[in-house]
Amino acid sequence: MSTELRVGLLGCGVVGQGVLRLSQDNARAIEARLGRPVRIQRVYLRPTSKARPHLPAALISDDPRHVYAADDIDIVVELMGGIETAGQLIEAALRAGKPVVTANKALLAERAHELIALANQCGLDLYFEAAVGGGIPVIRTLRESLASDGVTAIRAILNGTSNYILSQMSRRGLGFAEALKGAQEAGFAEADPTLDVGGGDAAHKLAILTTLAFGVRLKTAQIITEGITNVDAIDIQFAKRFGYVFKPLAIAEAFEDGSLGLRVHPALVPESSIMAHVTDALNTVHIAAEALGPCILTGRGAGAGPTAVSVVSDVIDIGRNLLAKTAGRVPQRAFREEVMSDVRIRDRGARQGEFYMRFTVEDRPGVLAEIAGILGQESVSIAHLVQDAPDQGANAAVEVVLLTHAAREAAVEQALSRIDQLPHVRAPARRFRIEEG
Ligand code: HSE
Repeated sequence: MSTELRVGLLGCGVVGQGVLRLSQDNARAIEARLGRPVRIQRVYLRPTSKARPHLPAALISDDPRHVYAADDIDIVVELMGGIETAGQLIEAALRAGKPVVTANKALLAERAHELIALANQCGLDLYFEAAVGGGIPVIRTLRESLASDGVTAIRAILNGTSNYILSQMSRRGLGFAEALKGAQEAGFAEADPTLDVGGGDAAHKLAILTTLAFGVRLKTAQIITEGITNVDAIDIQFAKRFGYVFKPLAIAEAFEDGSLGLRVHPALVPESSIMAHVTDALNTVHIAAEALGPCILTGRGAGAGPTAVSVVSDVIDIGRNLLAKTAGRVPQRAFREEVMSDVRIRDRGARQGEFYMRFTVEDRPGVLAEIAGILGQESVSIAHLVQDAPDQGANAAVEVVLLTHAAREAAVEQALSRIDQLPHVRAPARRFRIEEG
C-alpha cells in the first residue's frame, strides 16, 4: 500500500456519488482516523451508464480491469448492482488480490457464502455493511458486538420505500402510486420498484441478516414474502380505528426445535409500539439475543448519504487491516463451512398469531353468520368486528372487518379459502398478520 489508500469504484450511481461526496467532505477526518488519506483512484462505468460523476475524465474507465486488476488500486468497491456481472467482477477482484466492499444485497442474498469462502481462501476482506439497513451499523453489530451472544430473533423494517409509502398513505391519505412517486423522487426506491413494494428487497436483506445471525445457508426463495401492494387505503383506515398502523416487517425467529420462521410481509402493529414510530424511509432492526436481551438499531436505511457512510466506513476498516496486515481480523464466522448448516424452515401454517381480515360482501341477512360459522368451524375466534353500512340500498357491497384472537395460520388460510367460495362474497378476503411491534 502506498502513502494513500487507493479505491477503485465499480459503478457510480446514486450511492457511488454519495461515496465520492462523503470521502471528499470528510477527507481530513478520514485521514486522521485511518492514518492515510483515502483517494478515489478510478471509476469503472458501463458504456451504457447514465451516471455523470464529478470526476476528471481521466479517472473514468469503461474497462473494469482498470479497476480490479490495476496495481494502483488497494480496495475495490462494487456499487453496480445486479447479480451476474457484479458477482464475476467481485470474484475477479478477489482473485487479483484486492479486498472488496459491496452494497449488493441481491448478490449477497444468493451467493454470500461462496464469495466469502473465496475471500477467506484469498486471505482478503469482503465487507458489506451497506447491503442491509443503509447507514445502520447492523452487520458490524452482528459480526462484532454480538460475537459473544446468541441471537434468538430479528424483527425489522428493512425497506425504506415500503415504509415511506405506508407512512405517507397513513399520514397524508395519499394513494399508493403518489406515495411511490415520492419515494422514487427522494432516491431510495430501487430502479425496479417491484423489488421494494413486492418485498424482494427486504427478503434479500433478511437472508443476509439470517445467515449472519444464525449461521445457516438459505436462499431468498425460502422466505415467505408478501409485498405491500395488497394494503389498500381502506385497510389503513380500518387499522387506525382498531389502534394499529401498517408496517412492512421482516422477521427471523428461532424456535426450540431448531427451525427458523422467516417472513417478509406488511403487518398491523399497535400504534403505541416502538415499531409504529419508525416512519417514512427509516429502517429499524430489533435484535433479541440470549444474554443481551433486546437491542434496537434505527436509522436511515436508504439514500446516497447514509449508504455512503457504511461503504466508506468499510473502506476505512479494510484500510486499517491492510495497514496492520490483519486481513480477516474479524472473520465472517457464520460463513465458515464448518459452522454452517442448512436452514430448517418452520412450517408456514404453524404460526400462531392474531389476524386482521376484511371481507367485501353483499349486505344481506345471514352473510355475517356464514363467515362467522366457517371461522368457528376452523377454530378461529373473533375478537373485534365492524361493518360499515353505507345506505346504498339492497344488496350493496359492504366491508366487514374483523380481528381474530390468536389462531394457527393454517386454520386461517383454510377458513379464508372456504369463505372466498361463498356466493355473497364479492372479492377475495384481505388478511394481514398482527404483530407485537
Ligand atoms: N430500495 C431500498 C429501500 C434502498 O427502499 O430500502 C436500499 O436498499
